[in-house]
Amino acid sequence: ICELKMENVNLKVGDQLRVEGFVPAGADKFLIDLGTGESDLAFHFNPRFQEDGKVLVVCNDRTADQWGEETRQHCPVICSGQDIKMVFKLMGDKFRVELPGGQEVEFPNRRGIKVISYICELKMKNVNLKVGD
Ligand code: GAL
Repeated sequence: ICELKMENVNLKVGDQLRVEGFVPAGADKFLIDLGTGESDLAFHFNPRFQEDGKVLVVCNDRTADQWGEETRQHCPVICSGQDIKMVFKLMGDKFRVELPGGQEVEFPNRRGIKVISYICELKMKNVNLKVGD
């Protein structure tokens, strides 16, 4: 389920996707998915705001509707109730997300997907997407 969905996009190695938006106060999570369709994701980027106040970023991929093996890390620079700017870099062998304050999250391109044709966003507001290289 997406609140913002883009299909037929053409993001390639070397490209970047700038995502700016507002993370609502009290949000339990938000997500950005990059792939070739809802069932096939090269990169699921899913920050979760936990009850203990920590922010757990869960990353995964998805093949024919089956999740792969997820990675988890804490990212205290991601906050709810404020704007956030993130830059997703398609590096070929991996994805890198540049977060505020210089923190980065990386996730391997295990599926070897060369072209991202599908972008999905959930639970952010006032989203601005900008593709560049
Ligand atoms: C599941 C969750 C999915 C997705 C996945 C990532 O627990 O229901 O939405 O985030 O983890 O591994």
